[in-house]
Amino acid sequence: MLFLAAFFFLTLTLGVTWYYQRSSPSRRPLPPGPTLLSAPWPENDIARTFHSWTKRYGSVVSVKIGFRTIIILGTRQAAQDLLERRGTIYSSRPSSIFMDRYLNKGLNPAFMPYGSQWRLHRRFYSTLLNVKASQTYRRLQDIGSRELVYELLTTNDFSDVFYRYTSDVMLSLVYGKGQNRDDADHRRLQQINEMATFILQNASFRTIILDLFPLLDKLPMKFMNWRQQAAQLHDLTREVYVECGNAALQGKSWNWIREIYERPEAKDAPWEDVCYSLGELYVAGIYTTKMVLENFVTTCVDHADAVRKAQDELDSVVGMERLPEFADMDRLPFVGAFISELVRWKPISSIGVPHAVIQDDEYMGFHIPKDATVIANQWGINMDESVFESPETFNPERYMEISDRHLSGFGFGRRACPGYHLAKASFFIVISRVLWAYRIEREVEVGDDPKGNSSSPGVAFTVRSLQHQEIISKGGKTSGYDVGETLEEIRPSKS
Ligand code: HEM
Repeated sequence: MLFLAAFFFLTLTLGVTWYYQRSSPSRRPLPPGPTLLSAPWPENDIARTFHSWTKRYGSVVSVKIGFRTIIILGTRQAAQDLLERRGTIYSSRPSSIFMDRYLNKGLNPAFMPYGSQWRLHRRFYSTLLNVKASQTYRRLQDIGSRELVYELLTTNDFSDVFYRYTSDVMLSLVYGKGQNRDDADHRRLQQINEMATFILQNASFRTIILDLFPLLDKLPMKFMNWRQQAAQLHDLTREVYVECGNAALQGKSWNWIREIYERPEAKDAPWEDVCYSLGELYVAGIYTTKMVLENFVTTCVDHADAVRKAQDELDSVVGMERLPEFADMDRLPFVGAFISELVRWKPISSIGVPHAVIQDDEYMGFHIPKDATVIANQWGINMDESVFESPETFNPERYMEISDRHLSGFGFGRRACPGYHLAKASFFIVISRVLWAYRIEREVEVGDDPKGNSSSPGVAFTVRSLQHQEIISKGGKTSGYDVGETLEEIRPSKS
């Protein structure tokens, strides 16, 4: 939902006719960019459109839409120069009447403007998700991924299996609960997220108009009652987050809600807002990681050579007697390169999440006006031919020479994704284990799942040998596992 909401922010400013306006109060001109007459019209894929503008106009492009200025950064250099090096002024978010007044009411930290309230929530996130803390969560990721490879023995429905994995990890961490399968709180959380997605999808165009003509917001609710629906959903979401948060406080074991509750700075925000913030963190952690894992499967199907190479490496380093472990990470450079290439080649958020600049600035001789929306075009950056040879080809080898394995696609500067370390560990443990365990091939007949599932998504997971199957079966039977005990083991005071 984070990315849907981000996309929503963008369409908010792109949906209507743009017009030519190059003048600005500053002596410097705006960066070059398309006009009504000169622009190649947007393709379906907005990241590709931005990329074509970068090729035509340069690494910094501007476009005026209504009263908004959008700055598109098309190279990593430009994104780092502005969003990282000038982070004090480039770390806000664009405003949106719909999100700020109705759907989030300013409570989702991912969309808060830069300032003390955002800083407080960001501190909570850093406490929970810094490198050291994230390492302690590997125990949960280990158990979850054992179950995941075990489940793939009997189903090909990888989306469902990945969803269970990511939601189990997040439900355990945020709310201290075990496997979510029958959990009522999890179902309520899932339901509100689905409703929010639905409202965002259906309201998007009308909300663009609302932002361009803010006076429309003065109309009675009956004329645009989707505003009311969003406000009602907000109230329900808040109620569910607070109930789940309070239940977690009473829970037997350590969890993130309790961890933050016990911190002195938690008193600096209303408790309901803290619950809302951690509820949004729970949602952010589930769908993002699941999307990358899904991309991994579809990529494998079309790149048998790269898969074979990764499996050769796994066979020689790990062997057939055990599953890959976190401790193997540094000894599996090709698997690491495969993951780096996967997130470069298919970023799940092609234009990232837009930033906003809070004061006038100048860059490369151009004026960047206060309040401009600033977008780092992640897909375009990943397809930069001056950095990546044949960028549209999936080629993990390109990362074999690079020792810095920082993954792209997690944003820039002070707003960069706080879940980076947690997500990176999930990618490694799930991807290495699935590759070790299975041949991943397109099913000959889509929907005809030999494992007997009715909604097969067209990919078959075939265990690589009987010996692999034995190891998977042994490792996957985690029924004696107690999530409470594991959480107590990983709580920060113990580590
Ligand atoms: C596949 C994994 C993920 C990807 C690719 C991803 C990507 C991103 C990106 C591009 C941003 C915006 C950065 C910017 O504005 O420059 C972001 C922000 C954020 N991400 Fe992630 N993310 C992932 C996983 C996670 C996880 C696992 C969590 C939580 C456990 C998380 C929580 C957040 C939050 C809270 C923000 C908002 C930060 C802020 O505005 O201060 N993400 N993420």
